[in-house]
Amino acid sequence: SLPRVYVTRKVPPDGLQILRKSGQVQLELWDSDDPVPRRELLKKVKGCDGLLCVLTEKIDAEVLDAAGPTLKVLSTMSVGFDHLSLDELKKRSAADVYTRIRVGYTPEVLTDAVAELTVALLLATSRRLIEAAHEAKTGGWGTWRTQWLCGYELANSTVGILGLGRIGVAIAERLKPFKVKRFIYTDVEPRPELAEMIQAEYVSMDDLARQSDFLAACCALTPETQSICNKNLFSNMKKTSIFINTSRGGVVNQEDLYEALATGEIAGAGLDVTTPEPLPTNHPLFTLKNCVILPHIASASYTTRNAMSALAANNLLAGLRGDRMLKELHL
Ligand code: GLV
Ligand code: GLV
Repeated sequence: SLPRVYVTRKVPPDGLQILRKSGQVQLELWDSDDPVPRRELLKKVKGCDGLLCVLTEKIDAEVLDAAGPTLKVLSTMSVGFDHLSLDELKKRSAADVYTRIRVGYTPEVLTDAVAELTVALLLATSRRLIEAAHEAKTGGWGTWRTQWLCGYELANSTVGILGLGRIGVAIAERLKPFKVKRFIYTDVEPRPELAEMIQAEYVSMDDLARQSDFLAACCALTPETQSICNKNLFSNMKKTSIFINTSRGGVVNQEDLYEALATGEIAGAGLDVTTPEPLPTNHPLFTLKNCVILPHIASASYTTRNAMSALAANNLLAGLRGDRMLKELHL
């Protein structure tokens, strides 16, 4: 009989069509825009050969145990993989009773959309667009004033990138025409090939904080980057600087960020990701005018979400056939 596949969400049409037309799998899906309840997931993964998930599903020991030794392929419709317990996956791959579980993910297809949104969020924050639109609409626009709603401009600025990958490069390429003076970056080690594409200079974390007028977090969330944007970083930043995060909420210590924004240690922050998600509407960060918060939409263009679903579907099918995946995460 055909391999059994469980899809944990209503994914965009391209991906679904690829799975359906393949004739290669027996498909079952959680046909909803909302996450599958945990209990339902644990029930449905039992005996599956393949699992296609999105970033809201925590794929940990409990899910892998529930799936059992039939599970061969895990395909996530995301570039981020912090929701997958890599240690548990490795452990199972090492044990004899399990087949090696192969993992697919969706880098590159979302790079343009994420970089574009990051620029939009940066400008919305630095030029105070949300606050300004609100003032215009609610009667705050008494007259044209010389210093009203002034912000910070990209021209002649230094832009710092925390974690230089494909997305960081794409952001810098888009910011360059705004006449940025200098790009700097930090990472666990220098990335000369990527850095050369944008003439970015490798600096220490402290120098990144001290010299950046705009600091964008573009790193993966790993044990090493957990809460890496904390009091130490914010206190080193300029009072006139802007912090942007389109990676994962977990890279930020949110209490420290709140303090930095509330006390004017930094000028503003634009966040597409938070801890938790959704961020409760009564969260203190929502009370700050200098903080722009978006509901994790960086990859949210029709084209990109469709491409992500197609890639996730093709990764899954390739994995089940025992072929090379287009984008495989090597554990
Ligand atoms: C989005 O956050 C992703 O990881 O694809
Ligand atoms: C602004 O609108 C100006 O004319 O300076």
